[in-house]
Amino acid sequence: MDQRLLLMHQVMLADRPRLDAYDRALASVVTAGDVVADVGAGTLVLSMLALKHGAEHVYAIEADPAMAAVAERIVADNGLRDRVTLVQGDARTAKLPQPVDVIVSEMMGNLGPEEQMVEILGSVARRNLRPGGAIVPRRLTTHLAAIQFDEEGWGMWGDVVPGYRFDSVQEFVEPQPQLHFFQREPRFLTEPVLLSDDPITPASTSRPHREMRLPVRRDGCLQAVMGYFTAELAEGEPLSNYPSYPGCNWAVWVWPLRHTAVAAGDEIRVTVDVPRGRGQVRDATAWRLDCGIVRRP
Ligand SMILES: C[S@@+](CC[C@H](N)C(=O)[O-])C[C@H]1O[C@@H](n2cnc3c(N)ncnc32)[C@H](O)[C@@H]1O
Repeated sequence: MDQRLLLMHQVMLADRPRLDAYDRALASVVTAGDVVADVGAGTLVLSMLALKHGAEHVYAIEADPAMAAVAERIVADNGLRDRVTLVQGDARTAKLPQPVDVIVSEMMGNLGPEEQMVEILGSVARRNLRPGGAIVPRRLTTHLAAIQFDEEGWGMWGDVVPGYRFDSVQEFVEPQPQLHFFQREPRFLTEPVLLSDDPITPASTSRPHREMRLPVRRDGCLQAVMGYFTAELAEGEPLSNYPSYPGCNWAVWVWPLRHTAVAAGDEIRVTVDVPRGRGQVRDATAWRLDCGIVRRP
């Protein structure tokens, strides 16, 4: 088995705020006797939370055969064969033996949309969710903001050693994202602006806005555009990868830019180019950003 897969699930299980948020959301949504679909079930942790809150049966759908084999062992080890049915395959084509009351899933990418959770859950819901059933999460939004780092990450290409310059390295930058865990709050040069805002319903298909305008609200050095997601798991239960928190398993997406002075009243125009080819949408490095500055007259 690919050990990176195990490591990925280990890191996700260690993200306590993530699990606590799902625990609270499922407590508010699942009622005793419910049938639940856990989409992208992995180690079955969300299935177990659903059972804890009274679900009678869980259909756990997992596309990755190696991960499904691990999940099968977890079902057996916990004596859950009569309460958890493992379905190995792509959730987009899964037709479950009965309608479910609740769909739960955690397929948020670092930016939000790149794991295609909105489309996948929409498709699962159309075929399997009873009318009026609940989906956790019920909304996924992604914001972009222009930032100046607090002397970390891509903000480092200045004078690291006093008297010596590294700034020409910026000329080598490509408009593709880096993943960054903020140790210190960056300086927001613009308000966060919505890239996408998708309710997750049986009618869901995702459509990020491609061209965006970010008005600069304070003077500073433009160093990057960052993107982060917020998933509304249930009423009043948001889960976001920004601000970064201890144990957070998601980095924040950062498109590095040549360091450029900007002033309040300027406008940053951004176009996000989402790759169209099969499977490419999942490749974070293929999401390119074109960025231009319109100076205040
Ligand atoms: C981010 S992990 C979450 C795992 C687990 N639910 C948790 O919360 O720890 C997403 C899982 O979804 C699976 N997955 C991705 N796309 C899928 C699809 N189309 N159908 C079923 N499973 C999928 C992946 O193999 C992975 O195990």
